[in-house]
Amino acid sequence: MSENKKAEKIVGVKGMNDILPADAPMWELFENTVQSVLQSYGFQKIVTPIVEDTSLFSRAIGAVTDIVEKEMYSFEDSMNGDQLTLRPEGTAGVVRAVIEHNLAYEGPKRLWYKGPMFRHERPQRGRYRQFFQVGAECIGFSGPDVDAELIMLCRRLWDDLGLSNIRLELNSIGNAEERNAHRADLIAYFEQHIDQLDAEAQRRLHANPLRILDTKNPTMQDLVNNAPRLLDYLKDESLAHFNGVKKILDANNVQYTVNPRLVRGLDYYNRTVFEWVTDELGAQGTVCAGGRYDPLIEQIGGKPTPAVGFAMGIERLIELMKLAGEPHEPAQCDVYMVHQGEAAQLQSFILAERLRDAGLDVILHCATAAGAGSFKSQMKKADGSGASFAVIIGEDEVASQTAAVKSLGEQQQETVPFDQVVDYIVDHIVGDHDHDHEHVHYHP
Ligand code: HAM
Repeated sequence: MSENKKAEKIVGVKGMNDILPADAPMWELFENTVQSVLQSYGFQKIVTPIVEDTSLFSRAIGAVTDIVEKEMYSFEDSMNGDQLTLRPEGTAGVVRAVIEHNLAYEGPKRLWYKGPMFRHERPQRGRYRQFFQVGAECIGFSGPDVDAELIMLCRRLWDDLGLSNIRLELNSIGNAEERNAHRADLIAYFEQHIDQLDAEAQRRLHANPLRILDTKNPTMQDLVNNAPRLLDYLKDESLAHFNGVKKILDANNVQYTVNPRLVRGLDYYNRTVFEWVTDELGAQGTVCAGGRYDPLIEQIGGKPTPAVGFAMGIERLIELMKLAGEPHEPAQCDVYMVHQGEAAQLQSFILAERLRDAGLDVILHCATAAGAGSFKSQMKKADGSGASFAVIIGEDEVASQTAAVKSLGEQQQETVPFDQVVDYIVDHIVGDHDHDHEHVHYHP
């Protein structure tokens, strides 16, 4: 390329977002809160690879699902011909790891994970091609108690994040036998009204008729509302399980609506399914979804093991948090080092390291293409950083081996000998800590 020719700009992949520093505090707040809630229910973290064998997802999620039919980022590893896929969700990988490492051997496990997922969907508000989930999977538990516990964990999280207006929709989709009985009647019903089915529904009619109930097509709403309800096909055991979940939720004042049309878009579910939904995000209002998937572990080669879990979409929850009110701009550091001249710069480096040794967050002013900047412009940066103190060193300070320590809140300045600067600031910050802890990063 010739030296004068401007290089063409390369932009990010469509539907895949950068999380910019301005949003980072919100993400951190979310991640810290969800982690502490999960810990308070005894969940342990698991990290699985972003890439798995393609067959894992087609077997776990189901061949006739949106994800497997049209949304997976699948490719052949040109080095060895392996068929691989960027994970579209987290459950399959966790279950694979549990089987591979025999994790359920010692007893049931409560596991959680977070990370990016990939689906080649049509990007729109709240729907991305790379998005982040936090998920929880309880492996080896068969009763309704754990289903209810997972739901209550979510409610606690919404409360801790200050989010209201998220409602719970609940359903039971029974077991395979019950679904087969319902399926036969459902197909017969839709065949009687075949002229009212859209192309998508006609295609699904024999492969996955349950998913037709999930249609958003307004002209089909009456039809699906009057369709045979799977709930009416549940036998004693499934009903007892569903009633068990509802009983615990009722006793704990968890509000929910039973939505007989809630079927979920992945094939591994049985019995309890649920979604947490908000009206504040437009069309993509489901912030968390999950359910029981007792058949899955056996289906992908493990010993029969009951399980239940959920996953939440972090982008959607971050957007809800933003709508609920922006937290104030957090400080970038405790101390900003301002200096002029080479000897002062060297002294600043030494002092900055000592301050960090004492547990403080320190930004040392560094030069840009425009130069090191005047005292005045450096002080502006110090003010903008949200630091509690600026430590100012110029030629005079080097000569007298002192620094000017300025409290940026109170706009007071004191002259402090170099070897007392750390103690001076630590004393003042610890003293301040009781009054204004949100601004202080100090971590001894
Ligand atoms: P899912 O319903 O496919 O379930 O996704 C769970 C959540 O991830 C959704 O409710 C939504 O908040 C978020 N999400 C899904 N797709 C996108 C997207 N394209 N852009 C942004 N957010 C999205 C599962 O993934 C199951 N693995 C949940 C589960 C765990 N079931 C049992 N255990």
